[in-house]
Amino acid sequence: MHSHLDAILFHETTILSRLDELGRQLTVDYAGRDLTVLLVLHGSLFFAADLLRRINLPLQLTSLSVSSYHGGTESAGTVTFHQPALPDLRGRHVLIVDDILDTGLTLDSIRRRLEEECQPASTRLCVLLEKRRPRPVEVRPDYVGFRIEDAFVVGYGLDYQGHYRNLPLIGTLRKEFIVAG
Ligand code: PRP
Repeated sequence: MHSHLDAILFHETTILSRLDELGRQLTVDYAGRDLTVLLVLHGSLFFAADLLRRINLPLQLTSLSVSSYHGGTESAGTVTFHQPALPDLRGRHVLIVDDILDTGLTLDSIRRRLEEECQPASTRLCVLLEKRRPRPVEVRPDYVGFRIEDAFVVGYGLDYQGHYRNLPLIGTLRKEFIVAG
């Protein structure tokens, strides 16, 4: 799979060393609070698995299956929730974990729905990658692994048409592996 990449942005050692820092920060910030981590599936799986093992606190884990890309390299502009009910988050301090903040539509939709329907004690956003780009909605993540330019990236949970999630690094895909249209 590495041969499908034209550039590597972050090697696994770089990612894990940044997660050491984020884990320490989250351990301090959430000490003494009832923390629930909400994973945004599927992209956050690898990030969350490595990050959560670096948070030295009792926590609960739940997830939401949501999609906005629908197989392309850009957001389709609509966010689809694949499960009718949201988890029970009343009174919990909720950390929403996702792999990437791009247009912001996904995290904005999730946060709004949680705050309107679930009465959490607090919600914060944690993303591995934040793209530097203008967004149609204002979303400010509380925790960011890395800020990147506006490029389509795969690996470490991020996919193209379902592939490349299990690459242990993050890179850009060579053009010939992206289907036109
Ligand atoms: C991707 C990614 C984020 C979202 C970010 O999910 O995992 O959840 O898009 O884009 P946005 O900021 O423009 O909303 P995708 O829809 O590809 O589903 P996946 O997590 O299953 O890959």
